Amino acid sequence: MQQIIKSNKITDDLVYILDKIKFDKLFILTDEHTDIHCYPLISSLLIINEAKRVVVPAGDSNKSIENLAHVWKFLTANGATRHSLLINLGGGMITDLGGFAAATFKRGITYINIPTTLLGAVDAAVGGKTGINFEGYKNEIGAFYPAKYIIISSEFMNTLTPKDILSGYAEMIKHALLDSESTWRKILEFDLKNIDYKLLNDLVMESVSIKQRIVEQDPFEKNIRKALNLGHTIGHAFESFALDNERPVPHGYAVAWGVVAELYLSHKLCNFPKETLDKVTKFIKQNYGRFTFTQEDYQALYQYMIHDKKNEGETINFTLLGNIGDIQINQTTDKALIEEALDYYLSN
Ligand code: GLY
Repeated sequence: MQQIIKSNKITDDLVYILDKIKFDKLFILTDEHTDIHCYPLISSLLIINEAKRVVVPAGDSNKSIENLAHVWKFLTANGATRHSLLINLGGGMITDLGGFAAATFKRGITYINIPTTLLGAVDAAVGGKTGINFEGYKNEIGAFYPAKYIIISSEFMNTLTPKDILSGYAEMIKHALLDSESTWRKILEFDLKNIDYKLLNDLVMESVSIKQRIVEQDPFEKNIRKALNLGHTIGHAFESFALDNERPVPHGYAVAWGVVAELYLSHKLCNFPKETLDKVTKFIKQNYGRFTFTQEDYQALYQYMIHDKKNEGETINFTLLGNIGDIQINQTTDKALIEEALDYYLSN
């Protein structure tokens, strides 16, 4: 069981947690950015200062076999044992890479995630998915191997750019839609233009607990964990299409746009209420703008959906909603309705 700690003072909570875990040597993984901007927030602790620190380049393209090998080599060269502890300090790239290094080093060592981005805090750091990109495929190699503790600290959140906040917030929108009307209302009412960080941290904890409840029921994504894919089938197609056309978009933005198109499918296939669809569409358009493409791009987008690793065979797998909180996994449809959903996206 993963334990998620809400923190307002990272050093205090780190001392508390390190005291609870038995380990021989301590290692810290950062990237070039978190090493400069986040590590100083914990380095005043002697135990952290004396730990061995391994730094990798920042960015998702560095979630690679080369950097994984770099971490393995560092652990080996510095005498790590099966009883050593790894702290991953960073966004999703670091918690995925470090989690997989921990999963595989000497068949598994204990690790802690300290997410430093909102996206990392509400999604990547929680739930035990670890891995690296390989041969051009995202998260192609990996393992389910949960962190022992995840410390979510407000101290990192108020250094993020509005774009980083919005990118993480998209996963919170998704969790709220999977959960209940009341959670959705809180998400809708939160002022994204004038952020109250204390309130944001409360919403983050609520959001994470929604994810954790789902993951606990189905840690290996055989059934209900697929709920967390809401917005991601079309969202990933938008993200990959944008990347391949050299105009990358943040993951969360693509998910938010994907939610709009997939709620249209939900409306058509599962009777998701039109009024709620229109409200979500308006909220996402106001905060995330729109993704530009034309009807000529439909075939390319469809191809990305066909190649989604969540599919079984050639059938595109969607998670849809009958209403807020009414989750319908393993939904399928035909190309014509997917194109209709893209039409809806373009015209609203
Ligand atoms: N990011 C979705 C999951 O953890 O299952």
